[in-house]
Amino acid sequence: MDRVRVSILGATGLVGQWMVKLLANHPFIEVVGLSASPGKVGRKYGEVVHWFIAGDVPEYARDITLVSTDPSDHKSADVVLSALPNDIAWSVESKLLDAGLNVVSNASPERMNPRIPLINPEVNWEHLSILREVKGNWVIKNPNCTAAIISMPVKPLQDLIDSMHIVTLQSVSGAGYLGLSYLAIDGNVIPS
Ligand SMILES: NC(=O)c1ccc[n+]([C@@H]2O[C@H](COP(=O)([O-])OP(=O)(O)OC[C@H]3O[C@@H](n4cnc5c(N)ncnc54)[C@H](OP(=O)(O)O)[C@@H]3O)[C@@H](O)[C@H]2O)c1
Repeated sequence: MDRVRVSILGATGLVGQWMVKLLANHPFIEVVGLSASPGKVGRKYGEVVHWFIAGDVPEYARDITLVSTDPSDHKSADVVLSALPNDIAWSVESKLLDAGLNVVSNASPERMNPRIPLINPEVNWEHLSILREVKGNWVIKNPNCTAAIISMPVKPLQDLIDSMHIVTLQSVSGAGYLGLSYLAIDGNVIPS
């Protein structure tokens, strides 16, 4: 079976690095492109990424030359994975869609669009059925990190529960690589 070819936008960020790591030696997914902000385009991933995950940068990724987010740089991908900051994600993702590419996005814009599946695979993969009405290429969103995790234990209980009150205490890592400085978070509990 041919592997599904994916490229990753925001590959040098916190979420993008996990994508790069989890897709190393994947049995049916092949990473064919990595993208970062304009200042890093043209440079090798292994030379510019500030790798924060335990272990080394996966070998397959080290020599990949970073490309832009422009659709022309992702023509060889069957699916583009987006781990872009929320403020720029949808403008980039829209261009990819207009160019006929498929997109799976971690970013929040358009998550609640009723025409776009919002998928947590362990919880609601059937939401993909929306795509039956879509002709051509598509976009899929995934929930934010809090909803993704809470929805898993709650799913089997959903028929027993009328309402829930949930308080989340957002981790610093949720703010991305630039995030909050230590001095800004020290001694604080900041509700999300
Ligand atoms: N962190 C979490 O726990 C978490 C969980 C779930 C969802 N998310 C969502 O996932 C997305 C990424 O989050 P993150 O935490 O990984 O952010 P991040 O660490 O700040 O990474 C952002 C990535 O986007 C790239 N980028 C920034 N500006 C760009 C531009 N103008 N053009 C092209 N690429 C650009 C950065 O490249 P450079 O390295 O070159 O700057 C970097 O690779 C966000 O939408 C976030 O809401 C985050």
